[in-house]
Amino acid sequence: MPTALVTGASAGLGAAFTRRLALEHHDLILVARDAVRLNEQAEKLRAEHGTEVEVLPADLTVDEDCERVERRLADPDRPVHVLVNNAGVGLNSSFVEADIAEEEKLLRLNVRAVMRLTHAVLPQMLARRKGDVINVSSVSGFGPAQPGATYSATKAYVINFSESIAAGVKGYGVRVVALCPGYTRTEFHQRAGINIQPIPAKAWLNADDVVREGLHDLRRGKSVSVPSVRYKVVVAAMRHLPHGLVKRLTRDTRGRIKQAPKGGDGTRR
Ligand SMILES: NC(=O)c1ccc[n+]([C@@H]2O[C@H](COP(=O)([O-])OP(=O)(O)OC[C@H]3O[C@@H](n4cnc5c(N)ncnc54)[C@H](OP(=O)(O)O)[C@@H]3O)[C@@H](O)[C@H]2O)c1
Repeated sequence: MPTALVTGASAGLGAAFTRRLALEHHDLILVARDAVRLNEQAEKLRAEHGTEVEVLPADLTVDEDCERVERRLADPDRPVHVLVNNAGVGLNSSFVEADIAEEEKLLRLNVRAVMRLTHAVLPQMLARRKGDVINVSSVSGFGPAQPGATYSATKAYVINFSESIAAGVKGYGVRVVALCPGYTRTEFHQRAGINIQPIPAKAWLNADDVVREGLHDLRRGKSVSVPSVRYKVVVAAMRHLPHGLVKRLTRDTRGRIKQAPKGGDGTRR
């Protein structure tokens, strides 16, 4: 059976990936920080699908933990056939008001871990001339966003990185996709402390649908996947409308900007 390693496997989109891949007869390696939740998820998957499940608790913002996962991905005796770089966080503050340590942690998880884990897994995939890498990005990666400037920039990195890697490994039987969901019902917004009240019901996607469409697009050879027609339209607009208009439309998308810092003369900048 092929083996898939999923980061952020204990909740939301990551948990949906584990369910889908188990249904498709993959053995699984589950990565996240909370070992108790990972073990519960592993038990469920074993009971419901009869798959082999390995639990690998790790905080991917911590060097030693990330390296442990890298070593597992690079182990030639226990090949990993599918890597899902899904773990990611957002922050509920404008850049100027944010804690710089939190911004840096976000960068380490959303960018650095994605880059390092992809680098660890590709050599053995290329040697076998087979493998899939799914990097979870976001619709917000297609344009500027306020607040959450660092978040949308990390997701832009994931899109650009994935497209570049996909082109480089295409001739070697390895497929890479950036999966770019819009608002999806998971724990993401609650964890970031984002008020979801102003977000219309129609904007929400279901995690299982997002995962199904992402895997379908990967297997069709796409290097960027935007699940659902409504978000395909949003992304087309973000890509093709005049940039000035996009900036105005994406400004303070969730109404969370407080006030600009005061200048020395008491005026707001
Ligand atoms: N939900 C949305 O609307 C949406 C939209 C676009 C893109 N996305 C992207 O989708 C991905 C998955 O998010 P989600 O919505 O499923 O969020 P979620 O429900 O909050 O799940 C996040 C997962 O990441 C794990 N995680 C968090 N910090 C970690 C760390 N430092 N090291 C290892 N694992 C960590 C969490 O487990 P532990 O806390 O146990 O570590 C959890 O399993 C993210 O990359 C997010 O940016 C989400």
